[in-house]
Amino acid sequence: MSRLRIDGMLDPHVHLRGLQWSHKGTFASETAAAVAGGYWAVLDMPNTLPSTVNATALAHKRNEISRQAVSDWGVYFGATGQDNTAAFSSVVDQVCGLKIYNNATTGDLLVDDQTVRDQIYNVWPASKPIAVHAEGPTILAILDLVRRHRKQTHFCHVSSAEEIGYLWAAKEEGLAVTVGVCPHHLFLTRDDLSALGPFGLMKPELKTAADQEALWEALDAGVVDVIESDHAPHTIAEKQAAAPPYGVPGLETTLPLLGLAVHQGRLDAGQIPFLVAEKPRKIFGLQAPPETYTILDLDVPDIIDRQNLHTHCGWSPFEGMQVFGKVREVWIRGQQVFDGEAVLVEPGYGRNVVT
Ligand code: NCD
Ligand code: ZN
Ligand code: ZN
Repeated sequence: MSRLRIDGMLDPHVHLRGLQWSHKGTFASETAAAVAGGYWAVLDMPNTLPSTVNATALAHKRNEISRQAVSDWGVYFGATGQDNTAAFSSVVDQVCGLKIYNNATTGDLLVDDQTVRDQIYNVWPASKPIAVHAEGPTILAILDLVRRHRKQTHFCHVSSAEEIGYLWAAKEEGLAVTVGVCPHHLFLTRDDLSALGPFGLMKPELKTAADQEALWEALDAGVVDVIESDHAPHTIAEKQAAAPPYGVPGLETTLPLLGLAVHQGRLDAGQIPFLVAEKPRKIFGLQAPPETYTILDLDVPDIIDRQNLHTHCGWSPFEGMQVFGKVREVWIRGQQVFDGEAVLVEPGYGRNVVT
């Protein structure tokens, strides 16, 4: 099979930046990266500046994205350690879900008190999923909340043998959990850090070859629900500064890396639509509009080259890698939005997938 049609590709984990972080990327530039990567829609995380943690910030972000986006989009609401649960009932219908940062990462949305987490799980309406950043043993603390509150929870960027083990067991227990894995954890290890330097720093950090192997085993066993990019652009200057921020871009490299996995015999081509479209749509209860699909030439060799990327940040941790697969066409609502090289629609074409 060389030509693959994928309906309604959805990346449920991106940081589009914009607002006061527009120097890292704008809603226009990063949704251009999304369609160039083959995506119909992206779900934007709340650790922006300002954070999406109250009705005012949410309305402002929705306005800005809707003016600028070329892909369709949705936004998360963010929980805070200072208890913003009073806002939940009025914002739930406007967002794709709730995000809780349970370990430190970019931004200031850390919730590390289990009592506050419990309150958040208690108040968030069951109609929309909760997505969590939880690393290592923190996963066990969150699983305890899932067990008691029975609220559907997506575990973002699962990166180690330990973590996948906890979630494998949770699935066997029948808990309402789903697992996202990022291409950087599938294709890079901490051995790559000496070459990548700050450009290989993200949260969760790159792990060992054994951890990576555990992720591939979980993929093979059907324990991984979603391949999510965790697209998190920072400028080259920021990455080269004394205390570089965590995060790497990824929207435009996910499909070619999955194509590489197919070429290497580590992945079945038939799994790709499930991992990047069907399952993420199902988790977030989203239906793609009619005539919304991507045409991918899966066998075409390519080399990842920053010159060809649409992301504003202008770099990739996968620079120079030999991959397979080229996005040839992306259509949204019967309109072609990408032709393999250029974005064909104006900012504002993208619509909110939630309302
Ligand atoms: C993300 C960012 O920069 O916003 N960084 C990262 O390393 N993944 C935040 C996150 O997803 O934890
Ligand atoms: Zn995270
Ligand atoms: Zn993230």
